[in-house]
Amino acid sequence: MKKILVIHGPNLDLLGKREPEVYGHVTLDAINLSLRKVAKAKKIKLAIVQSSYEGKIVELISKSKNKYDAILINPAAYTHTSVAIRDAIAGTGVIAVEVHLSNIYAREEFRHKSLISPVVKGTILGFGPKSYTLGLLALIDLLNDK
Ligand code: DQA
Repeated sequence: MKKILVIHGPNLDLLGKREPEVYGHVTLDAINLSLRKVAKAKKIKLAIVQSSYEGKIVELISKSKNKYDAILINPAAYTHTSVAIRDAIAGTGVIAVEVHLSNIYAREEFRHKSLISPVVKGTILGFGPKSYTLGLLALIDLLNDK
């Protein structure tokens, strides 16, 4: 059975309460439940972690090589700042897909640059909670094509 690590970055634990006009009312638990449903249907094993600590996320990625086949990541605010997360993905060579709930290109200018996008297979954004399930399906497709 293939194994995928899902990483939720900083402040995503607040989904449902956090800026609902931007991120909606769906909680992280509800997103995780829909990811688990997709994974079960596709016979994929999921590990899901939320962390607001950049170093913890870097460590999870750098230790992922022999534990997981791929990573689904919403780096949240670290998308725009973290050379360390980018280097961890590039350095391990892990297959990764980046997701965002919101369309970062339709928001403030500081969100228009993702340091992560150049080192992942692809990015899905702007579909709210569905970005996650679409991202997971894309990742499973990639693994099946390997
Ligand atoms: C986000 C977009 C980021 O700019 C922001 O800092 C987040 C969430 C999204 O999913 O839309 O925390 O990654």
